[in-house]
Amino acid sequence: MDTDTERLTSGITERIRNRYDRLSPYYDLLECFLEKLAFSKWRKRAFGLLEGENILEVGVGTGKNLDYYPPEKKLTAIDFSPGMLSRARRKVEENKVNVDLREMDVQKLKFDDQSFDTVLTTFVFCSVPDPIKGLKEIKRVCKKEGKIILLEHVRPSGRLLGKLFDTLNPVIVGLMGVNINRRTVASLERAGFKIEEERNLFNNIVKIVVATPSSSGDFMP
Ligand SMILES: C[S@@+](CC[C@H](N)C(=O)[O-])C[C@H]1O[C@@H](n2cnc3c(N)ncnc32)[C@H](O)[C@@H]1O
Repeated sequence: MDTDTERLTSGITERIRNRYDRLSPYYDLLECFLEKLAFSKWRKRAFGLLEGENILEVGVGTGKNLDYYPPEKKLTAIDFSPGMLSRARRKVEENKVNVDLREMDVQKLKFDDQSFDTVLTTFVFCSVPDPIKGLKEIKRVCKKEGKIILLEHVRPSGRLLGKLFDTLNPVIVGLMGVNINRRTVASLERAGFKIEEERNLFNNIVKIVVATPSSSGDFMP
């Protein structure tokens, strides 16, 4: 990546981090309706796929997933927003969850290669500024026989709806810092993952994707 692109990505990263910091006091309230209606059900399905001892959650946010982890797992969870993390810390203290919470950017993970059996993300890759870089970092820290589970919203596959999401995307990014037209499954393949399973949860827009590290992928900087 050249210096100009790096500077641009780090500027966008800063902006999105600040946005989540500002949003953090209201985040749970804003999402409580959707959480009850659908998100909690989808989270349970994603957690049904969890395997291995050593788990990394990327973009833990306010800690909405913390209740779903079986207590015997060794859990590490990161987020780049101090505001979101402070909310998660509160839940950890109140509910006595055993988790190592760290402030970290998925685009620059400070973990050794092949540290985790499973990496989980829920509704994160819509806002990571450079998703391929983030996914390559996850691939690096995931064990070769491990896997990544993603619960994410993505660009709809239908031609008309896809175009509509492309048109609306700059407005939504401007308002909320969230991209509604990310091609996350293709990004996983470009980052060198093999797609093992793709479950459509809502209109080809919300999906659970399970992928494993493979030796292929786009290794362009
Ligand atoms: C939409 S929230 C989802 C939070 C949580 N996963 C959930 O399901 O409620 C997205 C989260 O991803 C975090 N995030 C976005 N980009 C990130 C990055 N580059 N590195 C680490 N965390 C990031 C944000 O700070 C935010 O907490």
